[in-house]
Amino acid sequence: MTTSLLTEIDHVAIAVHDLEAAISYYQSAFGATVHHREIVESDGVEEALLAVADSYIQLTTATRDDSPIATFLAKRGEGMHHIGYRVDDCAEALAAVVAAGGRAIDEAPRPGSRGTTVAFVHPKGSFGTLIELVQEN
Ligand code: CO
Repeated sequence: MTTSLLTEIDHVAIAVHDLEAAISYYQSAFGATVHHREIVESDGVEEALLAVADSYIQLTTATRDDSPIATFLAKRGEGMHHIGYRVDDCAEALAAVVAAGGRAIDEAPRPGSRGTTVAFVHPKGSFGTLIELVQEN
């Protein structure tokens, strides 16, 4: 079998302290523009998506002190937080990851930003990288 369940890099997520400063930097350095901006209150994050071809750079900051991004920023500082892989079927991809020994953070797919359906996979079991499976609906 040679068909990959991964159809595209959906986004590379970067945790930042100051979202406005990070957006300004990407604008002045690369001419990148904000394609979508959203506060996901359930995750305690505010994110800005900057388009790169068919993928995004997702600049992400915390909206409250107890959000996972706030914990990450406190422990690790700014930097790469996770990679989002686009898939056709999030549930199918999640089952395949678990069958391959991956550790699901989300037991089942759930709503993500931009109207997507997502599931996170723990960095432990995935060679140190937090993975988000992203299905566009
Ligand atoms: Co993400």
